[in-house]
Amino acid sequence: MASAPAQPTLTFPAWPQAGEEEREGLLRALDQEGWWRNGGGEVDSFEREFAELHGAPYAIATTNGTHALELALSVLGVGPGDEVVVPAFTFIASSLAVQRLGAVPVPADVHPETYCLDVDATARLVTPRTKAVMPVHMAGQVADLDALAELAEATGVTVLQDAAHAHAARWHGRRMGEFGSMAAFSFQNGKLMTAGEGGALLLPDEESHRQAYLRHGCGRPPGDRVYAHLTQGSNYRMNEFSAAVLRAQLTRLEEQIAVREQRSRQLEAALARIPGVVPQGRDDRCDVKSHYMAMVRLPGVQPERRTAVVDALNAHGIPAFVGFPPVYRTSGYWQGPYSGDADEIGKRCPVAEEIGGDCVWLHHRVLLADTATVDRLAEVFAEVVART
Ligand SMILES: Cc1ncc(COP(=O)(O)O)c(C=O)c1O
Repeated sequence: MASAPAQPTLTFPAWPQAGEEEREGLLRALDQEGWWRNGGGEVDSFEREFAELHGAPYAIATTNGTHALELALSVLGVGPGDEVVVPAFTFIASSLAVQRLGAVPVPADVHPETYCLDVDATARLVTPRTKAVMPVHMAGQVADLDALAELAEATGVTVLQDAAHAHAARWHGRRMGEFGSMAAFSFQNGKLMTAGEGGALLLPDEESHRQAYLRHGCGRPPGDRVYAHLTQGSNYRMNEFSAAVLRAQLTRLEEQIAVREQRSRQLEAALARIPGVVPQGRDDRCDVKSHYMAMVRLPGVQPERRTAVVDALNAHGIPAFVGFPPVYRTSGYWQGPYSGDADEIGKRCPVAEEIGGDCVWLHHRVLLADTATVDRLAEVFAEVVART
């Protein structure tokens, strides 16, 4: 067992980051007549700017990323009796959003290199009840959108991108709003741009935007003064302060992604040289990876040792965490109208079973450090893995 240092030996840039732009934005929002979207201009402006950055015709800002997914599913008409294929290895929100609508999330296995939805495994799970397939762009590595487009074409299922990790990412040079599908983002505190909480949904056409607008505001059309609740829905509206902060955060996003890309190449190469450590692989068709997390696998690691490795990294000041369990290995997943059991699903998801047990991830702020610190991080990682 490695002995923990008395003091953290490494320091990294803080996250979240804010400057004058955020302060000015907050005051601008404060000085408006109203602080909700119908009383000011920040949410409207943010939606336009976010949509434009991603090449989408429209965006709707929401309270958080989970709600952006729920909103998208409700626009697709997903409800009881429907199924949505989700990756077995993802943050639970991808599955919970489906459950919230009364539908069944069907976990499919993921790719051992990219940790994104395995499209062949997905195809085997498509049934007449399947309303949508939800790829997650894990840690900013875009899922195989080419194969998913073919699957959608062949089966008629709709693709809904869970892009919570993929702000400004690209696939073959195309942005996340240029695939004709909805894409849901998160602005929770750890995300690549943040207002503490928040979300957004990119919409591919006028009708889906109209539906999303209605449903994110209790069914009310823009400018409604007569309580015309034209559809069911909920209140998923973002407030003006969050939008003002996010407009400021947008100004740093692409520059920071470029820095993370350089540091990530350096870190990946160094970590790959450590025996027993395998960094997340890349699919080079993803030509801008947004680097939400630096993920690695420690194949064959036992649960106690993985926790000990994370603890030892933390003691050195490295923001490390254990990865997600497979969604079906959580109690939350099973609170729905499901048959079967976790072991049964586990049999068809061998990769998620392994990654769920051996994955460790580092917060993306380590990728904003200088090159000497990234070298030192890799050295400490090697020492910790060797001694723990
Ligand atoms: C893959 C994925 N989907 C959805 C979400 C939900 O976003 P939020 O936390 O903003 O509700 C997250 C958040 O971490 C996520 O990682």
